[in-house]
Amino acid sequence: MEIFQKTAELMHWRNAHRPQSVGFVPTMGALHAGHISLVERAKSENHLTVCSIFVNPTQFNNADDLKYYPRTPEQDLEMLQAAGCDAVFMPDEVEMYAAPPQMRLHFGNLEQVMEGAHRPGHFNGVGLVVSKLFHMVQPDVAYFGQKDLQQFLIIKRLVTDLSFPVRLVCCPVVREPDGLAMSSRNMRLSKQAREQAPALYRALNVAKQRILNGEKPDLVCAEVAAQLNENPSFHVEYLVLVDTENLRQVHHPQACEEYALCIAAFVEQVRLIDNLIFRM
Ligand code: PAF
Repeated sequence: MEIFQKTAELMHWRNAHRPQSVGFVPTMGALHAGHISLVERAKSENHLTVCSIFVNPTQFNNADDLKYYPRTPEQDLEMLQAAGCDAVFMPDEVEMYAAPPQMRLHFGNLEQVMEGAHRPGHFNGVGLVVSKLFHMVQPDVAYFGQKDLQQFLIIKRLVTDLSFPVRLVCCPVVREPDGLAMSSRNMRLSKQAREQAPALYRALNVAKQRILNGEKPDLVCAEVAAQLNENPSFHVEYLVLVDTENLRQVHHPQACEEYALCIAAFVEQVRLIDNLIFRM
């Protein structure tokens, strides 16, 4: 497995391997089985697989969140090697941002809801770093997790609006046996918070079932969020039913249409997100 810290070396390697196809898995490290499932999917569909590890400062709107974001580079490299990844790009901050970026990306309604509303500037940072990574890696296909559904839709918009010649693949959420969606942030959960965190997935399932039974989504979401908030360790930021194209809130779901139930909540100090996609 090749490890590159410099863009020029990565691009040299990429050019030497044309016309082989490259599947790309961008990450911020602290890898888990969810990331590895993306690497495996990339491997099964491309000649070569590249993974990037870069904790991108421009997408953090909270200094502590950036400071405490887990970093496990040695373990990450071992996992990628075992998964058969061909190359890893691990730039430092100077390599990615020689100067503070002045450009701003706007994604309209897509960034005004859910994560965008609660994390101002987050998707500008994601859009910037993913654009830079696409230029550097020049992948044929890029793989993202459905857990970050809004991020996937934002990147889809980015690829369309800026004509990146990259196909995007959204892969299913990978869960722990107790239902908790895998996330690098789970490493930051205390023992007690880790035991309680699967309540988010259970809450999504309860809400989904009630909506499928014909109850009003707004009422269901308010009640289910209030039940979670009865536990002082939880603080739900949002629980909403949205359409899976534009993330517009859905008040009156229609038969056969596809929707996503999305949640963001603090469990103690750690902010987690999850979602369920289903058809009425
Ligand atoms: O999903 C992530 O890990 C990050 O947002 C990404 C796509 C690697 C950009 O920094």
